[in-house]
Amino acid sequence: MEQFDFRRMSIYQIWVRSFCDGNGDGIGDLYGVYDKLDYIASLGVDAIWFSPIYPSPNADFGYDVADYKDIHPDYGTLEQFQKVLHRAHELGLKVILDLVINHTSDQHPWFLESRKGRDNPYSDYYIWRDPILKRRGKKHKLPNNWSSQFAGPAWAFDAQRGQYYLHLFSKNQPDLNMDNPRVREEIRAVMRFWLDMGVDGFREDVITYISKHRDLPNGLPWLPVINGMPYYKDGPNIMRFLGEYRAVAREYGAVQIGEAPMTNVKSALRYVSGEDRVLDMLIEFDHMMADCFLTEYLHHAFSLRKLKRAFSRWQYGLAGQGWNALYLENHDHPRVISRYGSLRFWRESGTALAAAYLFQQGCPFVYQGQEIGMTNIKLHSIEQYLDVASKNLYAMFHKRESQEKRMQRIHVSSRDSARTPVQWSDAPNAGFTTAAEPWFYVNQNYPEINVAREEDDPDSILNFYRRALALRKGSDTLLFGDYREFFPRSASLYMYERTWRGERVLVVVSFWHFNQRWRLPEAHFPQGAELLLSNYPDAAMGTLRPYEAQVWRWRAR
Ligand code: NOJ
Repeated sequence: MEQFDFRRMSIYQIWVRSFCDGNGDGIGDLYGVYDKLDYIASLGVDAIWFSPIYPSPNADFGYDVADYKDIHPDYGTLEQFQKVLHRAHELGLKVILDLVINHTSDQHPWFLESRKGRDNPYSDYYIWRDPILKRRGKKHKLPNNWSSQFAGPAWAFDAQRGQYYLHLFSKNQPDLNMDNPRVREEIRAVMRFWLDMGVDGFREDVITYISKHRDLPNGLPWLPVINGMPYYKDGPNIMRFLGEYRAVAREYGAVQIGEAPMTNVKSALRYVSGEDRVLDMLIEFDHMMADCFLTEYLHHAFSLRKLKRAFSRWQYGLAGQGWNALYLENHDHPRVISRYGSLRFWRESGTALAAAYLFQQGCPFVYQGQEIGMTNIKLHSIEQYLDVASKNLYAMFHKRESQEKRMQRIHVSSRDSARTPVQWSDAPNAGFTTAAEPWFYVNQNYPEINVAREEDDPDSILNFYRRALALRKGSDTLLFGDYREFFPRSASLYMYERTWRGERVLVVVSFWHFNQRWRLPEAHFPQGAELLLSNYPDAAMGTLRPYEAQVWRWRAR
């Protein structure tokens, strides 16, 4: 089937557990999603991506799947999912599911069977290795020195089978053996199951990791967290495997968005360029590292130049060859205003950040709560945090630092900040649930930051997102135009233009707490610019107030 023009889409991401509780048990669910579909459509987005909604013991909140073909009972039933799907389609929203196939839960029936021994039909579904025996004594060593991306070794010993299994993430997420053709057949069946139901595509979790080097060689011993990466990222059979999945997606005209941590433009182009590309877009991480090194936990001060370098590297790098996935938040990153913006200029920086990324070339993603400017939560002790990555990193690194300093690291980095309940109103528990207790802490700033309040305010972050998304959708220049950055060395200003068939749109964004002046980058910008959007009630060419964003147009002559 022919694919729809995915390039026009903007996508709203739902992490359902914290989105909206529809049945009053304190946990977000598909009943709550159903109730909010009109709200989502009102944003002007074209699709919803659901983070995993499958049965899962939640060691990694859904990214440990125990059954690929069902819905987690906390979230509803397959029937309820179909209702959501049907209504979303009626509203013109596509539905994209998360396909997590690098690993399963250790409670997945395949793994429970695989553990039992070396000669059952599932024995070879995972990556098992014998311990390396030391010459003397009974102690044995791990099969290699790889580290899990959530810290600690990437191997866990299973006493029942007497072998180690590989887990690039938590020990409850054993990696599937994608070299086994039966595993790939199972995955294709999973894809068909949802596509037959009417789902429009997949966001594919750490998809560039699914093909491991057969010998699993040791990685660099001194590198933390990612030392095995050269042997599992963009691995030897990746194109073949993705080609097989692409063939299924093509039958349905489905869109495929791959997640690719630590990738670069050159590797990305292998996947997303050309008619016979194996993926439509890649979720890369470069621009998520403007205030950290490798992971948010290894935090440093925010650098606008680093952010802009990353933005432009991808804009120029994919130009004319591939299509970017644009985002500033998702369930894996703390809230962006708390990182790259300013709590003092909360509204201004929330809207400035929106303007900084929504008008680049690519499909914008908006993560639940981002559109109202939700901010990071600060819990007092590590026990209150739930995210397995935060907990592991806390246990492994900086152990000699003071408690206070270590908690500060958690505050700036934890994924839990993206996972607090969405703040719908100033009602108890932010209107997220009618239960006495929501499943996780509500950010106490909900009386000020909530959907109801922002609905009523024409200048709110929420209404700015609406205006910006509508502007993008209605402009071929913003959809398809060429990108060019100006003044890349400025540490206070981000300026870029999009040009298409003689039309120019210039986006000017301040990342500064003070007023500043700016000038048009070239003398030949003609007179007659028209202001399309700004985040202050008025705007003057040449001046910017704190975190002011302006979008100007020069029509084709
Ligand atoms: C990426 C997902 O976005 C993240 O939430 C998860 O922890 C890892 N992949 C492992 O599935």
